[in-house]
Amino acid sequence: MILLGKPYYSSLLFICWSEPPRNLQHMSYQSCTRREFLLKTAGYASLAISGWMFGRHLTVYGQECRRSTALVYATRYGATKECAEWILAGMGAPADLLDIERISYSDVLSGYDRLIIGSGIWANGVDQKILDFFEAGRGLLDEKLLATFIVCGSTTATIKGRAHIDGYFSSMHKTLSKSPSCSRAFGGRLIVEKLNDEDHKALTAFYRSFLQTELRDWDRTDPNQARSFGSALFTRL
Ligand SMILES: Cc1cc2nc3c(=O)[nH]c(=O)nc-3n(C[C@H](O)[C@H](O)[C@H](O)COP(=O)(O)O)c2cc1C
Repeated sequence: MILLGKPYYSSLLFICWSEPPRNLQHMSYQSCTRREFLLKTAGYASLAISGWMFGRHLTVYGQECRRSTALVYATRYGATKECAEWILAGMGAPADLLDIERISYSDVLSGYDRLIIGSGIWANGVDQKILDFFEAGRGLLDEKLLATFIVCGSTTATIKGRAHIDGYFSSMHKTLSKSPSCSRAFGGRLIVEKLNDEDHKALTAFYRSFLQTELRDWDRTDPNQARSFGSALFTRL
């Protein structure tokens, strides 16, 4: 398709028109007339210019085809970031991975054509900065948002778990005119010795009083699930 583009023909025209000398080794100032020399020089110059124009157009064409994509995530203990990396690996297309803690909302909202947004889930739900980002993107995100995901302890295996997951997504999507067509909840991870004091205390109490068990490590992360979610997104870029 690129080769049928207009600039290719113009380059070809230039090349045919310029007819560079066949034997460059024998070209010397003494062996050709001034007129021949000027013609040959003009021929090479036009060849160089047309080559540059052709190459330049290919670059521009590439940029036109590729829409810029970023994945914005919020993590506390790392599982959401890993999940985001697996999604991008599965997507197999260039995209920037952005920590919500380190971005300017307005720069990201104006600088990318496609956005994927993911959050870990903690006692009070979706990360507050992710919610603020949705608020900042009210109106804009309706056309840019490709997918959302959460990384959590709740599972879709139970009615209660599904209700929780629906609730997390509802809080994320409340500023949108319609929910994105791709959303997924992934299993997260808990490593007790990594928890900060506040989270440790809160979870110990929660496990004892609600789950009636001791707080312990668990890991439900699944790289393959995240990768296949990513590869499904590729066709929507
Ligand atoms: C303090 C704390 C509270 C949590 N509360 C919930 C919760 O309310 N619902 C849930 O599904 N998962 C909950 N989880 C599990 C996390 O969603 C899970 O550990 C996830 O991997 C966190 O993402 P991160 O590793 O990127 O920080 C909680 C985890 C922590 C540490």
